[in-house]
Amino acid sequence: MEESTQYYHTPVMPQEVLDFLSGIEGIESSIVVDCTVGEGGHSELILKTWDGLKLYGFERDREILAIAHKRLSPYGNRVVLINDNFKNLWLHCKGMENRVAAFLYDFGISSFHFDGSSRGFAFKTQEKLDMRLDDSVTLTAYDVVNNFSENELTQIFTTYGQERWSRRIARKIVQKRSEEVIETTEQLANIVLQAIPKQYRVKHIHPATRVFQALRIFINDELSAINESLKHTLGYVKPGGRIIAISFHSLEDRIVKERFRRWAKGCSCDNDGLLCQCPANPLVSVLTKKPLQPTESETRQNPRSRSAKLRVCQKV
Ligand SMILES: C[S@@+](CC[C@H](N)C(=O)[O-])C[C@H]1O[C@@H](n2cnc3c(N)ncnc32)[C@H](O)[C@@H]1O
Repeated sequence: MEESTQYYHTPVMPQEVLDFLSGIEGIESSIVVDCTVGEGGHSELILKTWDGLKLYGFERDREILAIAHKRLSPYGNRVVLINDNFKNLWLHCKGMENRVAAFLYDFGISSFHFDGSSRGFAFKTQEKLDMRLDDSVTLTAYDVVNNFSENELTQIFTTYGQERWSRRIARKIVQKRSEEVIETTEQLANIVLQAIPKQYRVKHIHPATRVFQALRIFINDELSAINESLKHTLGYVKPGGRIIAISFHSLEDRIVKERFRRWAKGCSCDNDGLLCQCPANPLVSVLTKKPLQPTESETRQNPRSRSAKLRVCQKV
């Protein structure tokens, strides 16, 4: 018997994703765009469930996309994988206007990045500080940690990590790097640990979690890509089609929530208040008034799913 391949990543909220897809008329013979293919977990489930469906998949990381290529190869020309940032989807979706049944987003990084990429995303292992998701990113985590000023570091940790002790951590980094270069994840995690007062350390969450998250988001410019990409999807999704987004922290979730809210009011621009002249005809209906969260049983089996929030809207 052929040995089954083990993957690092377990797809999050798989049943919920399939349920929302199955509510789309004609899903069995339409186009689905998976904007965050990763190792191809969700993509494979979708392809398996509907055998007349065609899937386009975006992934910015070449290394992980190679895994997905192999995994999805049995589905032949039903799959088109594109090695690009999803913010550029409009470059690849020409001709698909009003034809896509669904766009799926599963933001952030994959367990592969934490456990198998050796690029310094995880603080529990000894790796070089890198954190780049693709070759277009020029700054590494090493560059930021060793060269940015105390003020700049403070701002990154506050903005992208919502870290309460940003200033103290930044100050400690600047002090420590004058003694020796900060090269590894372990060095950085220890510095963060020393900077946070003991009594304020949160049980079960490593004190360096937020700092690592902040560096990764900043280096890869993750948030503006989400905003940019979402804006384009509405032109490609067909009436009755859906946009499904899974976020893992409030910064991502806020962008999705705000975009869906604007569309639901009829707004397709980025202007505030009176500057918005969009007609008040709803462009979507929001199917998740409150975001869905994984069941207890899912978070028990896959603890990395615990912060997931899923939102869905449907084009009217
Ligand atoms: C949570 S993982 C996706 C896991 C996948 N849904 C599965 O079930 O296997 C997110 C993936 O999105 C990729 N990614 C993050 N930002 C991206 C972007 N702006 N454009 C394209 N891919 C992106 C990451 O490299 C990562 O592989």
